[in-house]
Amino acid sequence: MNEELIGPNLSFFDLSSRESLFFPEDALEGLLVNEKWLSSKFFYDQNGSDLFQKITELPEYYLTKAEIEILGDNLDEISELAGEDSVLIEFGSGPSLKSRMLLKAIKPSIYMPLDISKAYLLETSKSLASEFSSLEIKAICVDYTRPFRLPFTLDKKRVGCFLGSSLGNFNKHNALSFLRQTKKHLGDDGALLLGVDMKKSKKILDKAYNDSAGITARFNLNILNHVNKLCAAKFDPSNFSHLAGYDEGLGCVQMHLVSEFEQKIKVLNTEIEISKGEKIHTEDSYKYSPSEIESLALKAGFSRSVSWFDEKGYFGLFYFS
Ligand code: AVI
Repeated sequence: MNEELIGPNLSFFDLSSRESLFFPEDALEGLLVNEKWLSSKFFYDQNGSDLFQKITELPEYYLTKAEIEILGDNLDEISELAGEDSVLIEFGSGPSLKSRMLLKAIKPSIYMPLDISKAYLLETSKSLASEFSSLEIKAICVDYTRPFRLPFTLDKKRVGCFLGSSLGNFNKHNALSFLRQTKKHLGDDGALLLGVDMKKSKKILDKAYNDSAGITARFNLNILNHVNKLCAAKFDPSNFSHLAGYDEGLGCVQMHLVSEFEQKIKVLNTEIEISKGEKIHTEDSYKYSPSEIESLALKAGFSRSVSWFDEKGYFGLFYFS
């Protein structure tokens, strides 16, 4: 483990065993099977991250705005629950409005952002360190979806936050494993602030993932550009179309890319055959009812929950302790 002192109030710990989150073989794996898939982690190259930022500003994509509304309306109660002198551990760092709102309200003694992307984590931590000069920041570069150990002991109350409904991108099994592992990291007196997109009508969900400006389609198709760079492949995104829809049975929005015609594409020197109309699965975004998320948290070892919703009841913020 490397600890680097970056500034007077910022230290950086590198727990990542892999230099990169993106391994070419991981992309190839899903393209060699009958039901083709690409891991949604491949969305997030620089262009994909910029497109995702644009998605959060779209009128149809209510998730981010609803979560900000909930935070804004309930910061006093959240900071009261968190108490004084806590450690705020954020899973997935961001210089986002949401992190700033929480830092200002909770006023933790230590802020610990965890993120897999070294460059992004450093950039966001540096900007927060200069804005919050009396806050101690311990940034940890780690793939927090896999088992890991915190690199030091903490004798303060730990409050985790996992916002944006990112839990929805895990399948149910992985969501439970993540919550179990997180519970261990937070300790017996710790708590987790979890933002979750709620189950709702198919019409609203379909619109949120099929925006009229076509940004979600570009985000989905961009995964092929990333695979091209990574695997010296020659996918032409314009030969695929974006498909996204809510499956009420699964409680999940699924995204696919559909091949417009039969094509053969070389990926890492392996020829992939794709037939006309064949789909490549790129993302699952599970939606929960309040009782489903509460029982998942209960299974993971949390016992008490407080929840808040936006005015329309589209999004939920849960404080599990
Ligand atoms: C990051 N994640 C919570 C987003 C979601 O809604 O599942 C990713 C996304 N995919 C399409 N639009 C947004």
